[in-house]
Amino acid sequence: MKEIKIGILGFGTVGAGVVEGLQKNGALVAGRTGIKPVVAKIADLDTTTDRGIVVPEGVLIPDAMAVISDESIDLIVELIGGTTIARTFVLEALKQGKPVITANKALLAEHGVELYKVAQENRTGIYYEAAVGGGIPILRSQRAGLIGNRIESIYGILNGTCNYILTRMEREGLPFDEILADAQKLGYAETPPDLDIDGIDTAHKTVVLASMAYGAPVPMSAVSAKGIRGLSGEEIANADALGYRIKLLAIIEENEGKIELSVEPTLVPKNHMTALVNDSFNAVFVKGDLVGDTMYYGRGAGRLPTASAVIGDIMEAAADKVHGVGTPVGITMMLQKDELEYCAAGDIEKRCYIRLAQGDLEAAAAILEKHGIGMASVEETTSVILTQRAKESSFVAAMAELGDAVRLRIEDFEEKG
Ligand code: HSE
Repeated sequence: MKEIKIGILGFGTVGAGVVEGLQKNGALVAGRTGIKPVVAKIADLDTTTDRGIVVPEGVLIPDAMAVISDESIDLIVELIGGTTIARTFVLEALKQGKPVITANKALLAEHGVELYKVAQENRTGIYYEAAVGGGIPILRSQRAGLIGNRIESIYGILNGTCNYILTRMEREGLPFDEILADAQKLGYAETPPDLDIDGIDTAHKTVVLASMAYGAPVPMSAVSAKGIRGLSGEEIANADALGYRIKLLAIIEENEGKIELSVEPTLVPKNHMTALVNDSFNAVFVKGDLVGDTMYYGRGAGRLPTASAVIGDIMEAAADKVHGVGTPVGITMMLQKDELEYCAAGDIEKRCYIRLAQGDLEAAAAILEKHGIGMASVEETTSVILTQRAKESSFVAAMAELGDAVRLRIEDFEEKG
């Protein structure tokens, strides 16, 4: 049987999960594919911490460059994270013609165009399923099953940490920081977790999904992103009373050739499927022009779900190498156009939930009217206004006059005419 020798860079939560997954299911995978995956070397500066798994003597070393340059190693798995040394190592591996598997959404969102081009020039690939949606094979679905579709919209709950925090705030009423500490213990959160709670991690994943959907590397500056930092239990309780749940929702939508990209805490109707996505689960809703609506659901973070996606990519990269594929479709899809047109943040139309700090509803109504924002309903006891659709720029102008009010997006998932 053909053997494929793997070099892993980074022996943290996911790195250890990949080794554990291959120890458990490596023979199963070999039987299915005819290719035996062998972890030949692992590089991590920390060679002493107990990760709960045993690797043979001499496999774990501190020198990543030595792993990349080892001629016996066929492919490199980058699980270091961050955008500095990870970029150096990925570029070096690609220049040596070695396929790279990565879970690093920040690296792809910030340096994707450079990395995809270097992969193409060297007739090799980057495989990045684990970068979006944890264990959900969403990118594989996009580049395989949905390849015949123009993508009309993608809605996603893409951050396991935030979804876990929101779920427990709603169910248990616990403080934000206490739940975040649990998410860190469970291996869901980034280091530092600010990337999760400020919406940056979701924006990174949004960039990868949109780049693949529309055929050009999308810059981070095109995504209007807010996170869940500072969200209070009061908003969760008010939303609940109004028939909504709050989710950190990514929206990717094409309208008349312009692409809207946004990430923000959003009220979603309790009877919509997004409201049923809880804990560290993620869900991605893709609408294609031929297929219509589709939905993908699974664990969005954590050691073994992410390892599942990495192992899938290892075996795809191994098969591509064995069959001499060269540049895989996951690269060509990203490099079809040089640039795309985006909807400016201020032009994004939405409905909003507004809770006034002082409770002068009449004055607030006058301010909203002045900015052309219609009111759909008013809750006097909680000083909450639900608005009609209006442009983000109108909401920004009205909020400047409303003082300390809280504003959240509402998404009803209705067809826009
Ligand atoms: N910190 C990320 C999350 C990990 O919570 O979703 C998976 O990308």
